[in-house]
Amino acid sequence: MVEISASLLNLNKENANRKIYDLEVSKIDCFHIDVMDGQFVENNNVDLMKDYALLTSHISNLGIDVHLMVNNIEEFVEEYLSLSPRIITFHIESSKDEDRTLKLIKKIKERGTKVGIAISPDTNIDEIKKYLGMIHMVLVMTVIPGKGGQSLIPKTIQKIKNLREYINEKKIDIDIEADGGINGENAKDVIKAGANILVIGTYLLNSENYFETVKSIKTCY
Ligand code: DX5
Ligand code: ZN
Repeated sequence: MVEISASLLNLNKENANRKIYDLEVSKIDCFHIDVMDGQFVENNNVDLMKDYALLTSHISNLGIDVHLMVNNIEEFVEEYLSLSPRIITFHIESSKDEDRTLKLIKKIKERGTKVGIAISPDTNIDEIKKYLGMIHMVLVMTVIPGKGGQSLIPKTIQKIKNLREYINEKKIDIDIEADGGINGENAKDVIKAGANILVIGTYLLNSENYFETVKSIKTCY
């Protein structure tokens, strides 16, 4: 069964409490917190995302799926671990070398939290194959990281397919999360390619009825 992680990136602050409640009762599986530091990506939403992470942790039992688009990964891992998130995901384009990446995986797991690695559209899955046996999720960016409301980049669907084939061949138990530009038109292709968690932001937040939107995505394949 595919899971939906609702991105709060484009949620505006007024009536955020109400919207978060409405999302929760729409049967999403978790909240996707997109942390941007203004260095790894242009936008800086650090304070707002911390507010939303605290808010969802206080008013909802659903976990938070933290997506770090930051250079100083260690600092934000420390900050978000205190919220007992469902999972913390960092970018391989930011952690870069193997030593730092392994240290980050160890640090997050030692504190009892699941860990994911994110890959941007132009990064080859070969960059992360060596970590697959140690992590819980690969976040495949289906847009350029940095802002919500973009269109899905079609070549990323083949990338998901290639990754899923590799994972199945190696019999690795790991989630594939697709993130960016996902909507009612492309969700079926993304799921058929092999993603089992879909991040949905704009398409869900802009829809009339969250419950119906979530239901239609969960039953589209
Ligand atoms: C982009 C973020 C995504 C994105 C999802 O850098 O990682 O989570 O905001 O939002 P939509 O569904 O609006 O593309
Ligand atoms: Zn994201």
